Amino acid sequence: MWASVAQGVPVVINLSGKPDIVLAASFWLDPTVHQRHLKGTDLATKAPTATTELKYDGFSMMLHWLTAALVAMVWALGQFMDEFTKGAPRHAALSVHMVLGLLVGAVLLVRIVWRSAGGRHLPSADEGWLNLLAKVSHYGLYGLLILTVAFGAARAWVHGLSVFDWFTFPRPAFATRSVVRTVSELHSDLADLLVIVAGLHAAAALMHHYVRRDSVLRRMLPGKRAG
Ligand code: HEM
Ligand code: HEM
Repeated sequence: MWASVAQGVPVVINLSGKPDIVLAASFWLDPTVHQRHLKGTDLATKAPTATTELKYDGFSMMLHWLTAALVAMVWALGQFMDEFTKGAPRHAALSVHMVLGLLVGAVLLVRIVWRSAGGRHLPSADEGWLNLLAKVSHYGLYGLLILTVAFGAARAWVHGLSVFDWFTFPRPAFATRSVVRTVSELHSDLADLLVIVAGLHAAAALMHHYVRRDSVLRRMLPGKRAG
């Protein structure tokens, strides 16, 4: 069911198969019915609702899960870099880290363009401070992705590193020891913060799915409908 009030008259589009009068009454008695639609069922009727069919478009989903998979790989590779034998094996591992890290940046760029040009935007799944927290963490994740990739590239630059034997970052003259240390620490700390915030974000999505039993996780999963 979708409901709104125009000039005091409830307008109800009923997709649930229940009598309109029941659905209209539920909206009049409890205006928070809209919020329950986003959870996947209308408590008044226990019926799946139209809004449960809202999902992100396929391209946005693909970019989201590609980013998540790449970040997990790139972070793990950075974390375990010392496990590779010094010399060619470590250089190869670091090159893979840098290529995949730059790929995170490229995917992010496509995602930002897509999001502002044609990607689907969904209504908030929460209200009040939870809504604010979700918004802050989503924009925070975008910001952390940009900064982590930028400081990764800066780290490679101030070290004058080469990516396989394809390309060498030209080491700048201002790259003193303290600049190198600061840039390196910022890259590590930003990467760790990104993974922590993404972990909390994933935990929130799983909470929605298993505890609140609503459709938020399914909005980001392929399949016919979210409900
Ligand atoms: C989302 C993207 C990225 C993540 C999550 C990430 C994560 C990490 C992590 C966890 C480390 C180990 C930190 C430490 O122990 O000091 C690291 C190291 C490093 N990263 Fe990244 N990184 C990303 C992107 C990049 C990019 C794009 C570049 C360069 C083009 C890059 C270059 C480096 C370099 C040079 C190191 C030092 C490796 C070493 O000498 O041991 N990273 N990164
Ligand atoms: C590095 C890992 C991840 C990053 C950087 C990330 C980032 C994001 C961002 C920026 C959004 C907002 C999309 C938008 O409206 O533009 C989002 C949405 C979402 N993410 Fe993630 N995510 C990650 C991993 C995960 C994981 C592991 C899960 C599930 C277990 C997940 C579940 C979701 C869901 C369900 C939404 C949609 C939320 C809604 O409709 O309000 N994400 N993610």
